[in-house]
Amino acid sequence: MTTELPATVSWQDDTLCLLDQRLLPHKVVIEAQRSVEDVFRAIRELRVRGAPAIGIAAAYGLAVALQSSQSTSRDASMRVLDAAAQTLKSARPTAVNLAWAIDRVLARARAEASADIYTVVVDEARAIHEEDRAICRGIADHSVDLIRSGCGIVTHCNAGALAVSELGTATAPMYEAHRRGIPFRVYADETRPLLQGARLTAWELAQAGIDVTLICDGTAAHLMTQGLVDLVLVGTDRVTANGDVVNKIGTLPLAIVARHFNVPFYVACPSSTYDPNTPSGNEVTLEQRAPDEVREIMGHAIAPMDVKVLNPAFDVTPSDLVTGIITERGIATAPLAESLAKLLSSHRAATTQ
Ligand code: MRU
Repeated sequence: MTTELPATVSWQDDTLCLLDQRLLPHKVVIEAQRSVEDVFRAIRELRVRGAPAIGIAAAYGLAVALQSSQSTSRDASMRVLDAAAQTLKSARPTAVNLAWAIDRVLARARAEASADIYTVVVDEARAIHEEDRAICRGIADHSVDLIRSGCGIVTHCNAGALAVSELGTATAPMYEAHRRGIPFRVYADETRPLLQGARLTAWELAQAGIDVTLICDGTAAHLMTQGLVDLVLVGTDRVTANGDVVNKIGTLPLAIVARHFNVPFYVACPSSTYDPNTPSGNEVTLEQRAPDEVREIMGHAIAPMDVKVLNPAFDVTPSDLVTGIITERGIATAPLAESLAKLLSSHRAATTQ
């Protein structure tokens, strides 16, 4: 990457710091999180967002819970962790990485009964954070060849460095191709209602010197009629056992038009986003968000304030519309259920919600 973005999540001097992504790109504000309630609110309000980033933030959030508790015994500390885990998991229901990261830290805290519990929790959260960087590199290595010289790529929402760490997921092959000097264009959907594409993806790619053009949601089909799009690349919040892909609202229409115009539709994610315990997208809880997010843009009313609103934050793209799922372990292709199981099952611990 040729630019220094502010870190989305950092752990310095025993303090969890989160970049407030609601204010980007015009203001860079980093806030220390002093309690589990702070971390819950940061996740719920999308100060920190993107599936892997909320998992990492919540993992450190468990350490924050221990800092602010008065517990003196190991049992009491475990009770603090269990309560914090429940609170943090309830912040957002769709991204499986959140529960996955929390369960992983809890499991280690339980397993290392003789060690200092706070040290163990911090250590495991750090490990998840560190692994995330390496995973993004693995995704880049497995998928950079999808980006051919002169190609046009549509992406949706932000599955970039701001949502993960370092290279991002959907953006990982873009950063790597750019580093290798391969010319290509990215069209970033603005991604209503909260404009992650406009505020975050356009910002981070432009800072890296990547040729990025902002488009309204719904423009991609027209660009495909003009032959400008060779590839769609998006991230995901959860891939179910059958290969259905849950991602930001507006991903499904993109997949449908890509199929119509014969454009490959790829999804990039860490293996922690694969949820073999959920059979299909039908069983995933899709977060419903506040109506005012649609009635307003950045706090400015754009619709009658009493108009009825539907605001699901995610949609489900059926596996048969997905060309491939890029992970740090390789690319799963059709039939996705079998391919994902072969590639990832042995590396994915069971997750509870
Ligand atoms: O509501 P958000 O901004 O958290 O939604 C994020 C997405 O939909 C991303 O595409 C997904 O989490 C993958 S991030 C690597």
